[in-house]
Amino acid sequence: MQEVPRGFKMEELKIDKSKFKQQGQGKSDWGEELRQKMESYNASKTKSKEEPAPSTIIFSLDNTLKGLSQVVCILEKQNVALHHIESRSSLSDPEAKEFLAVLESDKASEARVMDTLELLKECVKSLEVVEGGENDTVWFPRTLEEMNPCLTRPLYSELEPSHPGAKDPEYQALRKMCWNIAHNYTIGTPIPVIEYTESQIKTFGAIYSKLKILYPTNACKEFNEIFPDLVKECNISEDHIPQMEDVSQFVKKRTGFVLRPVSALLSARDFLSALAFHVFPATQYLRHPSSPFYTPEPDLCHELLGHCALLANPEFAQFSQEIGLASLGAPDEYIEKLASVYWFTVEFGVCKESTGRKAYGAGLLSSVAEIQYFLTDEPKVKPFDTSTAITESYPVEGFQTTYFLAESFSDALQKIRAFAATIPRPFTVRYNPYTQSIEVLDSKEKLLKVAEQLNGELNRLMDGILKLK
Ligand SMILES: [Fe+2]
Repeated sequence: MQEVPRGFKMEELKIDKSKFKQQGQGKSDWGEELRQKMESYNASKTKSKEEPAPSTIIFSLDNTLKGLSQVVCILEKQNVALHHIESRSSLSDPEAKEFLAVLESDKASEARVMDTLELLKECVKSLEVVEGGENDTVWFPRTLEEMNPCLTRPLYSELEPSHPGAKDPEYQALRKMCWNIAHNYTIGTPIPVIEYTESQIKTFGAIYSKLKILYPTNACKEFNEIFPDLVKECNISEDHIPQMEDVSQFVKKRTGFVLRPVSALLSARDFLSALAFHVFPATQYLRHPSSPFYTPEPDLCHELLGHCALLANPEFAQFSQEIGLASLGAPDEYIEKLASVYWFTVEFGVCKESTGRKAYGAGLLSSVAEIQYFLTDEPKVKPFDTSTAITESYPVEGFQTTYFLAESFSDALQKIRAFAATIPRPFTVRYNPYTQSIEVLDSKEKLLKVAEQLNGELNRLMDGILKLK
């Protein structure tokens, strides 16, 4: 799944930030309980003059559009700025949507924010004051059950009029089928089968037949080591598109990663959070047969030919997961930076080998044209460095103008880890594969418990090394 580096922001809800600068007043008398809760919260903390007012809230709505509109109106009237908002399906009520919102939080606006909370309670189904201001941790999924709904909220649901398949009923029907699968899918269950049409198989075959000739010389050795096994075990050929479930099982056996069908592009935050759980969001639909060598969005060719072989490489899988772990609870600006790093590595990364530079990014490995273009003298090639990659701009369509050259996966991983350490989070996280959940390591006791577990692993490792001597 190729995703763009954007978060779920006000712009995507089509809210005009400037409206929040208008003046307005309003107050009701029902919110004493909430006010007391806020005051109690404030009193429980030793606050400095600079400390922000509490303003992170979670609210749920029955009628999402109407309710959200009312929330926005109240914020506008109260002149309270909305710094961040994100949504998810309610975990307790499948009919409701939950929103996490970070409101204006400077000291001067504290009274207005508290009044606003009172007003909001009148138009929402439930409202909870989480704590703190915008410097506090952003909500993130900690279990598969919490993460699954994050993958059913794509950035768009309708094809752009310029999409090659926008006016093709057969193509629209396939997209609808894939949409339904993605929205009803639960991780851990078999991925439903798609019956691809003759024209879709022909499209896939046209791309595959050209790429398989280019891989031996243009793709990295790690890819070329695994790809023949992927072809054999999943029965990939010019005449056969493998089912996502078979490919997922292939990858899972080697690295624990599984594929999870999604209906379209996700926000960077949702996409990256899935990687932390060893889950790779992937599309099941194919590009339109009228343009076999161009797609305006990621499709099965991109996911299968571009991503899946390397997801079966343990070092690369770890690299992908660590980007995901770094994203959990990270502020928006760091999500954008991580998305840029992801773009210049997992999507369009090139690496150094003794015979020259090779492709390991899925955008290259799934493009008949770009897998040849990146070896020409036209694009710039820079040594991979996170501090440079996060500031580099790039085209979402068309060939890349700059590629980042990694010394090795291991070297790139070290750099990702160093970057992750700069993300302002008051904790670190760890994926527990046994419970398939994220452990938040925010206390001495939790860290010591993990250290004990690792000590046991190290002892077994040393025992093995000594026995080899
Ligand atoms: Fe991708």
